[in-house]
Amino acid sequence: MKILPTKMLKPYNSFSIDENAELIIEAETTQDLIDIWSSEKYSKSVKLPLGRGSNTLFCGPFEGIVVLNRLLGKEVEEKGNDYLITVASGEDWPSFVEWCVDHDYYGIENLAMIPGCVGSSPIQNIGAYGLELKDICESVEYLDLNTLTIKKLEHSECRFGYRDSIFKQELKDQVIITAVILRLSKIWQPLLSYGPLSQFNATSNTAKDIFLKVCEIRSNKLPDPRLLGNAGSFFKNPIISNDHYCLLKEKYPELPAYEFGENKKIAAGWLIDNAGLKGFQINDASVHKDQALVLVNNGNATSSDILSLANHIKTKVYELYQIDLEHEVRFYSGSKETSLTELF
Ligand code: FAD
Ligand code: EPU
Repeated sequence: MKILPTKMLKPYNSFSIDENAELIIEAETTQDLIDIWSSEKYSKSVKLPLGRGSNTLFCGPFEGIVVLNRLLGKEVEEKGNDYLITVASGEDWPSFVEWCVDHDYYGIENLAMIPGCVGSSPIQNIGAYGLELKDICESVEYLDLNTLTIKKLEHSECRFGYRDSIFKQELKDQVIITAVILRLSKIWQPLLSYGPLSQFNATSNTAKDIFLKVCEIRSNKLPDPRLLGNAGSFFKNPIISNDHYCLLKEKYPELPAYEFGENKKIAAGWLIDNAGLKGFQINDASVHKDQALVLVNNGNATSSDILSLANHIKTKVYELYQIDLEHEVRFYSGSKETSLTELF
């Protein structure tokens, strides 16, 4: 393990929020994690595992130890027409996807360019362009923080949902994901259901073509956190009843919605955009000018600027559409996780 000489969290969260932790440690092995969690020295401190901090907002100084996940390694096993790939949780997700595409391990290409670590991917069941982690996840290996032993959950036990899993529910704060086992295919079968991908021809286009197209769409739509601090979609797309949707649709015929079981999933970006909030700014925090679901730090935004902006959006959206937006980004205040509802 490496105890970092800095306490500054700014380089370790994609919003580039300038807050400190009590201590920052890099864990390179599972044994490091066990040592940190069992150490007498650190026993009085809360410990927070962090990947790349690309779905995290520090709402003040973190009163505890931030443990950066740097567990590395990949193993590939052939299983008939599939590959089972065991990936250590600290591997970089976007680099891993590119590596799979370059090795002809098919079925992951739509999830290109999602910032973060592999170990964070099952937590909110990352998704984009018609594919979710759950579609390729075989199992998840974790360190049980109560017993400090390694355990495994099969796909069906992970309770994956839209931006949700058991790791955000019953197992929250109880485990550290140490590896993710993915099932990819030897047989190329593109997933082209998402709008801009439907122009592709399933037979003549390669996995690399789709990968590059997804990268192109994302680069045009989403700000690069290295240049403009952000955490991707700030809010989840809300799920509302059909009746509620029909009422809204009468008033807003353009409202984009997708089938979601018996309900409808609504595009939160459209709701915010249609409320006239694109570009809206509070101090150095603003709603992104091209993608209203993304809040950005224009350089010197504080967490309270981001939170005030988020709360303003949530209030406006409720007033206009009677929809209660839920944030996707995870908030930490003091030594605990918190939420907009708790803070305002
Ligand atoms: P972090 O922010 O470091 O951690 C997130 C949470 O998981 C925290 O609560 C942390 O304590 C916990 N955690 C981290 N690692 C572990 C572990 N090993 N064990 C247990 N708990 C852990 N998301 C999508 O789903 N789809 C997208 O298309 C998408 N696009 C994005 C685009 C941009 C520009 C950005 C900045 C973000 C985007 N996101 C997207 C959100 C983000 O990329 C994902 O949520 C990603 O999985 C976060 O990974 P991370 O390692 O940075 O997580
Ligand atoms: N829209 C607007 N104005 C905006 C933004 C979007 O009108 O400012 C409309 C679009 O025109 C489109 C609809 O809203 O009709 C949906 O937009 P888009 O396809 O860009 O997707 P999204 O709902 O904004 C979701 C995910 C993204 C994921 C993309 C692609 C959530 C919360 N977000 O965004 O995930 O990359 O679809 O699949 O589900 C993330 O989770 O951080 C994330 C970036």
